[in-house]
Amino acid sequence: MIANDSTSPGFPRRPLGLDGARRGLHFGADYNPDQWPREVWAEDIALMGQAGVTVVTLPVFSWAHIQPGPDTWDFEWLDEIMDMMAQAGIDVDMATSTASPPAWLTRAHPEVLPVTRTGDTLWPGGRQQWRPTSPIFRRYALDLAQRLAQRYGSHPALIAWHVNNELGCHNAFDYSDDAAAAFRLWLRERYGSLDALNEAWGTAFWSQTYYDFEEILPPRLAASEPNPTQLLDFRRFSSDALRDYLRAESEILREVTPQVPITTNFMVMGDGNAMDYPGWADDVDFVSNDHYLEPGPGAIDELAFSASLTSSIAGHRPWWLMEHSTSAVNWREVNPPKRPGELARDALTHLGHGADAICFFQWRASRVGAEKYHAALLPHAGADSRLFREVEALGASLKGLAELSGSDSVRARAGIVIDYESWWSLTQEFLPHTHLDYRGQLLEWYRALLDLGVRVDVVSSRDELGDYDLLVAPLLHLVPQALRERLEQAVEGGTHLVTTYFSGTADENDHVLLGGYPGALRELLGVQVEELSPLPDDEQVRISGGASDAVGRTWCEVVDVTDESVAVLRRYEEAPGIPGGTPAVTRRQVGAGSATYVSTRLQDEALGALVRELAESVGLGAELPEAVQGEAIASLRRGKDADYWTLTNRGRKALGDSRDVAASLGGRLLAGPDALGIGDAVVVRVARD
Ligand code: GLA
Ligand code: GLA
Repeated sequence: MIANDSTSPGFPRRPLGLDGARRGLHFGADYNPDQWPREVWAEDIALMGQAGVTVVTLPVFSWAHIQPGPDTWDFEWLDEIMDMMAQAGIDVDMATSTASPPAWLTRAHPEVLPVTRTGDTLWPGGRQQWRPTSPIFRRYALDLAQRLAQRYGSHPALIAWHVNNELGCHNAFDYSDDAAAAFRLWLRERYGSLDALNEAWGTAFWSQTYYDFEEILPPRLAASEPNPTQLLDFRRFSSDALRDYLRAESEILREVTPQVPITTNFMVMGDGNAMDYPGWADDVDFVSNDHYLEPGPGAIDELAFSASLTSSIAGHRPWWLMEHSTSAVNWREVNPPKRPGELARDALTHLGHGADAICFFQWRASRVGAEKYHAALLPHAGADSRLFREVEALGASLKGLAELSGSDSVRARAGIVIDYESWWSLTQEFLPHTHLDYRGQLLEWYRALLDLGVRVDVVSSRDELGDYDLLVAPLLHLVPQALRERLEQAVEGGTHLVTTYFSGTADENDHVLLGGYPGALRELLGVQVEELSPLPDDEQVRISGGASDAVGRTWCEVVDVTDESVAVLRRYEEAPGIPGGTPAVTRRQVGAGSATYVSTRLQDEALGALVRELAESVGLGAELPEAVQGEAIASLRRGKDADYWTLTNRGRKALGDSRDVAASLGGRLLAGPDALGIGDAVVVRVARD
């Protein structure tokens, strides 16, 4: 049965990370030698040496090569490549190869294939054609994982196990009969009885009452709007089902090789299919993540946001960047290359936020298959290329940064809260506003905080919230009782919390909390709202107080102040249906902290002005030297004898001589170009006495 603990907080965690045995930063890529003739292998290894590659992930998609038939196995090629790696001194992060089952298996057992909500089977011909809940798939896949563990468990090249690959990348939501059966078991465990389930799902609505667990289905395409709690529980279940699969493989691997650490590559910024990664962190020995730069304005902020979030999921212990791209990807509508220097910038930004391994998809650019136009370390043009020279330079630079390995990230004083369940609930279609863009909202607040020249953590709602002085939780839509209490305790203890419209509205069952919005946070904030007033995308409201010409978009509300200790920081001046002078932003002093409510989506300077005001009031001054304040993203790692600052230019203007920047932090330049230009990052070492 799939364990259901999606509501339990994920701390305290056991320490994550690789043992100290093989310290030093890792640098490498997915390597797919079985997609190339043997003649190429020796050249690959020689060039890996030249580039300073220390680790490869293999054989991610090689099941069909390892097991050509149900009872035939071919490990020889893998033995050979593993030995070549050991000889070359390159470590192997060994994937269990279970991400793409062979054609003979899906032919014999089409019932392992995933099914969409409209009932379509996802056929072979791509990858990830498997159901997380299929007992048949599991039998074959676990057998493969076990054989790999037995064969390579004590191989000198093996450094870690890599379970499957990007769990849920293409098969996160499976609506098959296997999924239906597993979903029912999961629901039995969560609710214990049908009465409790009917209550939680609100099935009195539209005659949806269930009288037998067997009547319950995944939220397959229905005649009208689906049940919101069924949708939310299906997201929880789907995350738990993949985590359960991760546990199943891990159990086998741990049994055979208890000494080898296990990871799987998360996709923490995954938009449609982000899983409950903070809840998965305990299931891996070290966290790893994949990140692909989003081209366009704000790309660098999003990059740092992802790195910071991964660090927080890893408990601020070191983690691995398992994949990013040296240049273009192949899966956007238009796929521009990275410009010179951006490869190093992206790598150093992850490193600065705690990555102890800088890896890429993939070593050698494919010449066949769907990913043939995806960049790699070794491009189609070969080693005599601008890109490969940048790769070599990065490898050299990482060698010079070895002393950072094993160092923890230092918590910031300011944090942005990410709550995956609120995110999931806001992806539903039947809401007052369907363009709320949870991820985009977090990024807007993150940017406003970065503009202050402070470090900012992205914090999971499962984390210790009281560790932060200023904590912003935008669109915190679902607030179960336990989270409510944790927020109240944090504020009492001195945290200054900021939250926005459409927060606290519903509980863990997505039931609206009665008595007025923002429901669970009403008392803490000391305000009450009767009616939600979303705005069409092309409308805006005018706000007074703070910046001149302040405007808000997306949402506005008639906010009633219900507590004497509430100060009104901003008022509506012109907003549809809202009397001028109505509070728009309020702040209540509570215990040693405060609780601020922002009832509209403040734009640019208006948001900046509010964030500045709040930061000043809590004594959160700029941490960075003036020359780079707001223009560079800073992250900090603490080593044995030194602190390591990484500064990433956010891309708006050149920031001068890197050595001067290092000196202004009281340290010396350890990596990065001579000038901190647009698209650059530097690492600075500050010795500690
Ligand atoms: C994902 C996968 C890789 C590769 C890359 C391409 O991250 O894990 O196998 O397909 O995408 O960007
Ligand atoms: C229709 C239906 C009602 C209700 C409304 C909502 O009129 O008959 O049951 O769903 O739409 O607008």
